[in-house]
Amino acid sequence: MTDLAIIGGTGLTTLRALEVTRREVVHTPFGEPSCPLTYGQLCGKEVVFLPRHGPGHTIPPHKINYRANLWALHRTGVTRVLAVAAVGGISAHLGISELAIPDQIIDYTWGRAHTFFEEDLRQVTHVDFTYPYSAELRNLLLKAAAAAELKVVDRITYGATQGPRLETAAEIDRLERDGCHVVGMTGMPEAALARELELSYAAITVIVNRAAGRSEGLIDMASLEQNLKIGMEKVRRLLEHLIPL
Ligand code: HPA
Repeated sequence: MTDLAIIGGTGLTTLRALEVTRREVVHTPFGEPSCPLTYGQLCGKEVVFLPRHGPGHTIPPHKINYRANLWALHRTGVTRVLAVAAVGGISAHLGISELAIPDQIIDYTWGRAHTFFEEDLRQVTHVDFTYPYSAELRNLLLKAAAAAELKVVDRITYGATQGPRLETAAEIDRLERDGCHVVGMTGMPEAALARELELSYAAITVIVNRAAGRSEGLIDMASLEQNLKIGMEKVRRLLEHLIPL
């Protein structure tokens, strides 16, 4: 039975090593997920894969139907979700195309459908979100990285911004003062929705650029693409070394 879902981010719309067994179109009470779910075997492990920006990377971060995506994955019976995401590096100690595993998150997004608990409630529900990422799944990622001989930085704080524009230098200064080490646009509400559905959730982030104001000049999209390619190859390697719990 499939117990692990992988949500692909920018630069990871397909998993080359995935031996696809079937695809499933899912309709949810919250609308359509980003695309049909792909089931298959990844190096002997049953997984279900969903690229959050859609198959052709056409859905911007603020337009992703996070509720439909998480609901569709939950419906398959999986209990664990690994998310992959490209981010900008705020802290100087994070290298370009390096991998980092967040253990905390700060949410700066707005106006996104961010909860399953808003209509037809029998009672108001507040989920605990002290530790937004599953320690067990973060360990699984660390072990896979060690097996793949990949350097990963552990215990970083992810600042989730609205996008689709990148940040101003002052906004990045503020995020750094708040304690964020990386910045991305898709970490929330995804992590919180996973928690509401009682799914274990962890993320692996790829630093594809220095965040605004953290390098000379402007953010160069051509180098970002190049860094993304290098980083996502590392992610593929890491995912191929996952050892099922
Ligand atoms: N900011 C926000 N999201 C991002 C960035 C960034 O600099 N790089 C990749 N995703």
